[in-house]
Amino acid sequence: MSRRLGIVGATGAVGKELLGILEEREFPCEEVRLYASAASLGKTAVFRGQELKMQELGPNCFAGLDTAFFSAGGELSREYVPQAVEQGAVAIDNSSAFRLDPEVPLVVPEWNAETLAAQPRIVANPNCSTIIMVMAIAALHRELGIRRVNAVTYQAASGAGQRALEELRAASRAALAGEAFEAKVLSHDIAFNLLARIDRFGADGYTGEEDKMLNETRKILASPEMQVEATCVRVPVERCHSMSLSLDLSSPCSVPRARELLSSAPGLLLQDSPEDDLYPQPADRAGTDAVAVGRIRESRCYPGGLVLWAVGDQLRKGAALNAVQIAEELL
Ligand SMILES: NC(=O)c1ccc[n+]([C@@H]2O[C@H](COP(=O)([O-])OP(=O)(O)OC[C@H]3O[C@@H](n4cnc5c(N)ncnc54)[C@H](OP(=O)(O)O)[C@@H]3O)[C@@H](O)[C@H]2O)c1
Repeated sequence: MSRRLGIVGATGAVGKELLGILEEREFPCEEVRLYASAASLGKTAVFRGQELKMQELGPNCFAGLDTAFFSAGGELSREYVPQAVEQGAVAIDNSSAFRLDPEVPLVVPEWNAETLAAQPRIVANPNCSTIIMVMAIAALHRELGIRRVNAVTYQAASGAGQRALEELRAASRAALAGEAFEAKVLSHDIAFNLLARIDRFGADGYTGEEDKMLNETRKILASPEMQVEATCVRVPVERCHSMSLSLDLSSPCSVPRARELLSSAPGLLLQDSPEDDLYPQPADRAGTDAVAVGRIRESRCYPGGLVLWAVGDQLRKGAALNAVQIAEELL
C-alpha cells in the first residue's frame, strides 16, 4: 500500500531525521510534503534523489495526505493536528500536546503496539527520555514487576532542537577561545557545564521533563502504580540521552538473570562487560537504532533490585524512528 505523507517541522532536528529514516526503511510512499515556518521557504531537502521544497502551513494544506508527522512543538500540534485529521490524515505527533489524552494512544511499538489496533486518528509519540527508559526497563517490568524507578538523565543538547545543538557548538568554541558567550536557546551557557532543569519548574520543584517520565511511563506500561522519581539534566553532548536507573522490583532479580532478560528484549543491545571496560556511551550510540544497556548491578538501596545505565539516540528511537515504527504498525 503506497501512502502520501507529510512532515511538519521538516527543517528541525527530529524532522530531518524522520525524512532520512523513511528513506532508509523504504517506507512505502508516493508523495512526501515538507512543512516548516515561513522563514524556511526556499529551503529544500532531498528524498529518494528528489529535491523537495518546504511549504507553509495553511488552510487545507493536509488535503490528500494519509499520514502527517508533527514535529514542530506543542502549540502548532494543538492547532494543526485536528485540522490534519479533519482533512483525512492520521496524525503521529512528537509533541507533548496529546500524550496524556485518554483517547490518544501513547506508543512504544515494541511494548504497547496493541493500543493501535483500533486504528486511531491521532497517535502520540512519547517523550524522548521516556522512550529510552521504557525500552531499558519494560522487559524487566513484564517479568518481575517494577515498583519504583529512580532515574537520573544526561540529555543531549539536540534534545532541545536544532538551534540548541548549534548553540552547544558555538558555546564550546567560545569557551575554548576564552571568549564570553551569551546563551539564547538554552537557559544558561552549556559549554563544559550541566543544566539541571529541562522544561519548566512545577510547584513541587520537579520539572516538566521529570513529570513526563513519570506520567508517560505509567500510561505506556499500563502501570498507574509505578513511581518514577527523575532528575533530568542537560549535558554538553551533541546527541543521545543517557540515564542511570535504580529499580525497586516486586520479585528479586540477579545480575545474570537481568542480562538474560535484557539480551532478548526487542530493540535493546546489551553492552555490559566490566572486564572489557564495555558499557554504553553516547559517542558510540549516535546515529544507531538500538537502546544500549550496561553497568547492571544489584541495588544497594532496594533489596533484590537493580541499577542500570542506558543510552539511546533520542533523535532516532527517542523520536523519529519510534514515529516511523508507529506508522509501519498502522500499515
Ligand atoms: N529533539 C529531540 O530530541 C526531540 C525528541 C522527542 C520529541 N521532540 C519534540 O519534537 C518536536 C520538534 O523538536 P525538534 O527538536 O525537531 O525542534 P527544532 O529542531 O527546533 O525544529 C522545529 C521545527 O518546527 C518548525 N516550525 C517552527 N515554527 C513553525 C511554523 N510556524 N510553521 C511550521 N513549522 C514551524 C521549524 O521550522 P523552521 O526551521 O522554519 O523554524 C522546525 O522545522 C518538539 O515538539 C519536541 O518536543 C524532540
